[in-house]
This record gives sequence, C-alpha cells and structure tokens, in this order.
Amino acid sequence: MKVAVLGAAGGIGQALALLLKTQLPAGSALSLYDIAPVTPGVAVDLSHIPTDVDVKGFAGEDPSAALVDADVVLISAGVARKPGMDRSDLFNINAGIVKNLVQKCADNCPKALIGIITNPVNTTVAIAAEVLKKAGVYDKSRLFGVTTLDVIRSETFIAEAKGLNVDDVNVNVIGGHSGVTILPLLSQVEGVSFTDEEVAALTTRIQNAGTEVVEAKAGGGSATLSMGQAACRFGLSLVRGLQGEANVVECAYVDGGSEHAQFFAQPVLLGKQGVEKVLAYGEISAFEANARDSMLETLKGDIELGIDFVK
Ligand SMILES: NC(=O)c1ccc[n+]([C@@H]2O[C@H](COP(=O)([O-])OP(=O)(O)OC[C@H]3O[C@@H](n4cnc5c(N)ncnc54)[C@H](O)[C@@H]3O)[C@@H](O)[C@H]2O)c1
Repeated sequence: MKVAVLGAAGGIGQALALLLKTQLPAGSALSLYDIAPVTPGVAVDLSHIPTDVDVKGFAGEDPSAALVDADVVLISAGVARKPGMDRSDLFNINAGIVKNLVQKCADNCPKALIGIITNPVNTTVAIAAEVLKKAGVYDKSRLFGVTTLDVIRSETFIAEAKGLNVDDVNVNVIGGHSGVTILPLLSQVEGVSFTDEEVAALTTRIQNAGTEVVEAKAGGGSATLSMGQAACRFGLSLVRGLQGEANVVECAYVDGGSEHAQFFAQPVLLGKQGVEKVLAYGEISAFEANARDSMLETLKGDIELGIDFVK
C-alpha cells in the first residue's frame, strides 16, 4: 500500500505521518508532500524510526512525484483557523489549494482513494468531486470527507460524561463537518441514556469542539494532534478495506445517494473499491431528526459553493 499525505509538513500532516509510519502494515510506502521546503527533512526524520514503512518526502510546487501509484491520498494542505474564524472563512484560500491538488491526483493516481481533511470539508469535498468529474475520472466510491475527528471527540466526551471505558463507546456522527451540520447520534449509544439537557449540552460541545481547541491554542492553530489521530484511524481503515478485510466501517462525508444532500456523512462499509456500501444510520430520536432537517439548508449551501467554485 502506498499512502500519500499532502500538507505533510503542517501540524496535522506531521502528526499523521508519524502515526502512519508506526502503524501502516509492513511493506507499505508513505509519501509526504508539502510546498514547505522542510518536507524531505520530515521524511528523513521519520525514516529513522524502525518500522517496515518506506518514507519519501517531496517539496516544491508540483506534487506529482509523491502521487504516482498512490493507493490512498490524504489531503490536509491549506490554512487552519485562528480565533474568531469559522471554517467557511478558510474557503478563499483552501478552495484553490484543494482544486489544484485534486487535479494532480486525477493526473497521477486517478484510482486512488482520496480523503479530504482541508476545511471547509463540506465544500472542499464538493470541489474535489467537480475537479475529478471534469477530468473524467470521478468515482464517488473513492472520495471521502474525513469527519473522523467528530467521531473520536464524541466517543471521548461521552465516555467522560458517563464514566465509561472509551473503548466501549461507538457513535455515528452524521451530516457534515462544521457547526450545526455535525450531528452525533447520541440516542444510539449502547448502554447509556441521556437526559434532554445532557443531549443538548453534549451535542453543542461536540459541534463546537474544534473552536474549543482554536481558542485554547490562542492563535496558534486548530486541532492537529487529535486530527492526526483521527486521520490515521480513517486512513488505516481505508487501507484495511483495500486489503480485503471484512466489516470495516467508518463514518465519512460521501457522495452516497443520501436522500438529504448530495454529500452526507454517515456510516460507510469500506472495501477494495473504497465505499463498498453506504449504510443506513438507523433509528434516530425526535431531537436528532429535527437537528438533521434544520441543518440541510446550510449543508446544501456549502455544497453549492464548492460546485459553483469549480464551474
Ligand atoms: N477535517 C477535520 O476534521 C479537520 C480538523 C482540523 C483541521 N482541519 C483542516 O486541516 C487543514 C490543515 O490544518 P493544519 O493545522 O495542519 O494547518 P498547518 O498550517 O499546520 O499546515 C498546513 C500545511 O499545508 C501546507 N500547504 C499550504 N498550501 C499548500 C499547497 N498548495 N500544497 C501543499 N501543501 C500546502 C503548508 O505549507 C502547511 O505545511 C486546515 O484547513 C484545517 O482547517 C480539518
């Protein structure tokens, strides 16, 4: 398996690269690209860790060399939030970066599974889809918005609130990846019950968890280490699916024929082609149904913005 990380010298990229270097299956290749000149050095640094994962680093304007033969491409290139910004404020810079990088994926590794981390994910995934369509290589089962951070935050906060072992907590997070479009399905968490007040408070905390980090870092960026872990979990799941492992399921923001919006985050069965099957997210509470319906205008607007940007 060859996994490429674009934006690999950044906060997320370096954390993700470290985790992949130590956790990818033996014999894998890790390909790091960033415009920052330090990137080959990041690869040399990682290469001293004794695992059977080959690491190469590439810098400069053209990511092509990093992408040839890639099976999975994870994109975290772009700018991150500062206090007072929401994810949509990143659109002006990140839209163009994602457009150019995905074009390079279309040119160099059109069959790769692509995971978009760069915000605003609700929009950048729509941009990626349009670029791939224009290039004639779009396969909706191979494009993902990485929403795993919302899942791991939900697992952590629920375990904390209810005194559970976090390993036992599983939760679906559906919708998108910003503000009200992040909807954790707390009603489905097994073995616990929540009061209405707890549901409202936990949902709001999960939706605003990114801002919690942005404010705590006080101008120094947004979530990088927890996002590195989330992206590693998701990237390894993509690899496990590609290698034919059964029952690999992750929530992700996909073009999966949802009745709600063209792109919608929900549980997905991963396999040798990427999305093997988009799974139903199951029964939800009245609170969740209301939150889902109320988010759709925002989510569809975010998607439209991405489509219009490429057109
Ligand atoms: N999906 C999520 O859940 C999630 C969570 C946190 C952050 N993010 C997003 O991830 C992105 C990266 O965050 P970060 O904290 O790592 O930022 P960062 O500033 O630390 O790193 C970004 C990296 O991208 C590189 N870069 C910029 N333009 C590039 C280009 N054209 N080609 C290649 N590399 C380029 C920069 O040199 C830098 O190394 C941001 O957009 C952030 O909002 C997403």
